[in-house]
Amino acid sequence: MSESTAVPTHAQSVAFAAFGGAEQLTLSDSPVPAPGAGQVLLRIHAVGVNPLDWKIRRGLLQQVFALPLPHVLGVEGSGTVVATGPEVTAWKVGDEVFGPVAAGYAQYSLAEAADLAAKPAELSWELAAALPVAAETAYRTLELLKVTAGETLLVHGAAGAVGGVVVQLAVADGIRVIGTASEANHEYLRELGAIPVSYGDGVFDRVRAAAPQGVDAVLDTSGAGVLAASVELVGGTERVVTVADPAEAGVLGVRFSGGGEGVRVAQGLAAGLRLFQAGTLKLPIRAALPLAEAAAAQDLSEQGHGRGKIVLLP
Ligand SMILES: NC(=O)c1ccc[n+]([C@@H]2O[C@H](COP(=O)([O-])OP(=O)(O)OC[C@H]3O[C@@H](n4cnc5c(N)ncnc54)[C@H](OP(=O)(O)O)[C@@H]3O)[C@@H](O)[C@H]2O)c1
Repeated sequence: MSESTAVPTHAQSVAFAAFGGAEQLTLSDSPVPAPGAGQVLLRIHAVGVNPLDWKIRRGLLQQVFALPLPHVLGVEGSGTVVATGPEVTAWKVGDEVFGPVAAGYAQYSLAEAADLAAKPAELSWELAAALPVAAETAYRTLELLKVTAGETLLVHGAAGAVGGVVVQLAVADGIRVIGTASEANHEYLRELGAIPVSYGDGVFDRVRAAAPQGVDAVLDTSGAGVLAASVELVGGTERVVTVADPAEAGVLGVRFSGGGEGVRVAQGLAAGLRLFQAGTLKLPIRAALPLAEAAAAQDLSEQGHGRGKIVLLP
């Protein structure tokens, strides 16, 4: 019977039962959840792997997210609707969708129906799963920074998943972007439309040389201790945002954006889709691994280098 009509009682998922290294992740058969009001159940085809995942698994965010253990990670994915809960009218069984999901490292996961977008047939399952967090974060932070055409934006960590989409959305809006990355990613940044600058000692001298007209706003996705000098660069905290350095942000009075109430799911997915439909979206899938290799995927993510996105294929 097709998966759109038959849902098993149990299916594979990857959970961790104690905080720690990637060895805590275990693949097992677990009950498939039933969708509640406003929810759909998805047969997950691909799930995005985010730095958030290993940070949660290591217990680094226990003060932010109080999670009961065992916990199944995975906040974004793509899949086919296999069941709908009460009050869901937007989707039907068989629809192909992508967006935020709960417990996505699994063959079957729940999602809030209102948060999902229809997956165009030409958009691969991998890319659809890779896009939601990067696109939402990019849209949200550009909105917070209020950067407009003709201005100059500095993106720390521009080759990463978030940074790369920020660059593309900003460039599409006529913003001049300077992006920091290792030399190996400079050509990639040029392809995205940014001016690449190497990070490390002297980075702000190199940025000033690349932007003699000055820098108007800064987004930090690197968490590499760049906020104080970024504030000095733009002459204040107002147009500096970090998504990766809450500690230094707190000390300096810089805005740390972690989503929460400011989350922009629909707008972010729409912005990502606009790039895809224009034929310009670049979000390389740097690894697509089976669910059983979730530990290797998280270890790769934790290395903190590389371009584009890692996905799992449950
Ligand atoms: N608060 C939020 O809402 C939110 C949402 C999404 C992500 N995040 C956070 O944002 C960060 C980035 O996420 P991501 O998914 O884009 O990660 P990612 O895809 O793993 O990218 C990390 C990038 O950082 C670059 N990098 C490493 N060290 C650097 C340094 N010292 N200076 C500048 N760049 C450096 C790497 O470039 P090279 O390969 O060239 O070294 C790599 O491209 C993570 O900390 C994540 O947890 C926060």
